[in-house]
Amino acid sequence: MTRVTRSLLLAALAFGRAPVSLASCDIPETFAPVSEPQLPDPWTFYNGEPVKTKEDWACRQEEMSKILQQFQLGDLPPPPQSVQASLEGNTVTMTVTTKTNSATARFTIRNTPRAAGSSGGPAVVAVGSYPTIPVPDGLGIIGFDNDACAAQTSAQAYGKGWFYDLHGSDHPAGSLMAWAWCAGRVIDALQQLGPEKTGIDTKRLAVTGCSRNGKGALAVGAFEKRFALTVPVEGGTGGAGSWRISDFLSANGSVIQTARQLVTENTWMSPRFQKYVNNVTTIPADQHFLPALIAPRGLFVIESNIEWLGPDSTTIAMKAGREIYAALGVKSNMGFYLEPSGEHNHCQFPANAGVALGAFYGRFLQPTVDIEVSNSTLELGDWTGDWSPAPKLG
Ligand SMILES: *[C@@H]1O[C@H](CO)[C@@H](O)[C@H](O)[C@H]1NC(C)=O
Ligand SMILES: *[C@@H]1O[C@H](CO)[C@@H](O)[C@H](O)[C@H]1NC(C)=O
Ligand SMILES: *[C@@H]1O[C@H](CO)[C@@H](O)[C@H](O)[C@H]1NC(C)=O
Repeated sequence: MTRVTRSLLLAALAFGRAPVSLASCDIPETFAPVSEPQLPDPWTFYNGEPVKTKEDWACRQEEMSKILQQFQLGDLPPPPQSVQASLEGNTVTMTVTTKTNSATARFTIRNTPRAAGSSGGPAVVAVGSYPTIPVPDGLGIIGFDNDACAAQTSAQAYGKGWFYDLHGSDHPAGSLMAWAWCAGRVIDALQQLGPEKTGIDTKRLAVTGCSRNGKGALAVGAFEKRFALTVPVEGGTGGAGSWRISDFLSANGSVIQTARQLVTENTWMSPRFQKYVNNVTTIPADQHFLPALIAPRGLFVIESNIEWLGPDSTTIAMKAGREIYAALGVKSNMGFYLEPSGEHNHCQFPANAGVALGAFYGRFLQPTVDIEVSNSTLELGDWTGDWSPAPKLG
């Protein structure tokens, strides 16, 4: 074991607490496979020690992140040396430069939010460019072309896209992890351009995506901590669905996506994952670790009754996720919605989830709503005499 010193500043901030301390996390460099038929315990370190304090939890999150990278998603590279962004019309062009390479990528800003002053307004980053959830007026939409970052055309498409132009076509990241890194560059570019140019406040960003891009949205929210809200939709197995439960249901005759099938279909996971797909109970992680990394930030997971997506698998894995939020004292920061009245078309937003989605937008993107929109040209002062502006109450 090596001793890794880390700043717990971010963890302390994540808990909304003032104290800032430096602590050390005892985290192994690499992890051996285990034998664990149930969802691995988030409250016990890999070495068997219990998680007792908030500082321990920050270290355990770090450990869970490393385990997910080692076994299934591949490594998240550090930030690049620079991002140079320019805005023309609705399109941002950015040049991303690492120590060894440079690549150019683009994304779009649509429905620029009505900015409150110069600090900008909230926005939703759509993995796959177009959100499948309703995005009300007042929220911007950022079209993130994840396929250009890391291709997902087939299992043979590993290593294609601007992520791999920068990091090498043999980089161990699968496309989900690549998208998490590239989405971070989108935020870098927005921060560099600033709210006066973009109309966007980067402290109030959500990320969403459906189906394969729903798997993506969940990974992006877990590994890019600047997202205030994550809304993954119908990602099924490899998104909200558990490897273990999907295998169990498949063995019981369900026609459900499994780890075994998933690696033959596409580039989502790291090539490293292939040696575990016939033996998922040896992975010291499962998909409830993704909410564990997002906590206590906002997370609203929308799933469906489509058999292939594994409704029982997504429900139990995300119930486990909500247990984690509950233990942290923020249970309502995470929600789960699976339309109980039956199937709807894949990626069609279930209307009954609208109120809950609005509540998540409100809490995490627009906690203080200051809105007054009208094209009326009448003057208030002509109608209030001398009582406006109103007197200050003592
Ligand atoms: C297992 O399969 C049987 C037979 O199809 C079914 O009745 C049962 O509900 C299944 N169990 C689970 C947990 O899916
Ligand atoms: C699964 O992993 C366990 C523990 O590493 C091992 O004992 C077992 O043989 C493996 N099974 C398969 C099918 O690979
Ligand atoms: C406001 O917009 C509506 C509809 O576009 C229009 O009918 C109305 O005349 C406008 N009012 C003013 C004061 O411009």
